[in-house]
Amino acid sequence: MNDLPRIFLTRELPPKSMTKLQAGSRLVFNQEDRCLTKTEIIQGVRDADGLLCLLTDTIDDEILAAGSNLKVVSNFAVGFNNIDVASATRRKIPVTNTPGVLTDSTADMTWALLMDAARRVSEGDRLVRSGTWSGWGPLQLLGADISGATLGLVGLGRIGKAVARRAMGFEMNVKYWNRTRLSTEEESRLGVEYASLKDLLAESDYVSVHVALNEATRHLIGAGEFESMKPTACLINTARGPIVDEKALVAALQSGKISRAGLDVYEREPSLEPELSEMDNVVLAPHLGSATIGTRTKMGNMAVENCLMVCAGDRPVNLVNPDAYV
Ligand code: GLV
Repeated sequence: MNDLPRIFLTRELPPKSMTKLQAGSRLVFNQEDRCLTKTEIIQGVRDADGLLCLLTDTIDDEILAAGSNLKVVSNFAVGFNNIDVASATRRKIPVTNTPGVLTDSTADMTWALLMDAARRVSEGDRLVRSGTWSGWGPLQLLGADISGATLGLVGLGRIGKAVARRAMGFEMNVKYWNRTRLSTEEESRLGVEYASLKDLLAESDYVSVHVALNEATRHLIGAGEFESMKPTACLINTARGPIVDEKALVAALQSGKISRAGLDVYEREPSLEPELSEMDNVVLAPHLGSATIGTRTKMGNMAVENCLMVCAGDRPVNLVNPDAYV
């Protein structure tokens, strides 16, 4: 059917989303399990009505200019720092994302890293696999307590709140810092206490990052911030790598300014500061926050719906840049 929109998809989505997308469009997609180059994306958007892309695709002004028929850029992610939204808005191209559906799996991943870093699970796994484990020991691989400790949440949006709800089960003291303060009712419902960033860093045993990446939050956690943290503190980042100055993190871990870290995201993915992979007190995951079958399927369906809605002339539910319609 030639009246179906032409969609360019940069990498295969979960099967149910593919079926939905194929049924509603004339689909061209990258069939190889790799990221496309900029030139390949430019080629792909040339005669596309919609672009469905991933957080690993940098969608800049040049790509948007090449897509002269583009009616929508639908990102398969909640974060959209990979897209030049200002350029899309100027070109009246709506940009969409996938909020909400990945909140719980990302909050779960935050806890997986926190608990692993605190209780040295990956380190223990390496010991057992090495064949050199000599048996239980009273001083072996002692970790840090989670129950009763202080958790500092840098950012309290959807994911930060879901992390706070889980902290209740561990009877932690939860502090948060956010651009806007919650109402007193919501603070008490979530069991969280507002603090300045400086106080939060100074008082927390675990600091977990949950802000969006933008120019105001790039390197929000750097050398000065590590300086204010407890030497026993643990940093968790499941948000975006560039929010933490990765070189400063390495220096802070090396000099004992903080003691551990659990990372799901990196400043220059898939590269990382080489020292990190040599450190036993760091747990490293390959950006798995939303990586469950259920969540990725919901994200795929949402990204497909957003894309097809705009192509059908409707305003999408998950619109990032309302000014594209002004
Ligand atoms: C994952 O990192 C996302 O932004 O969806």
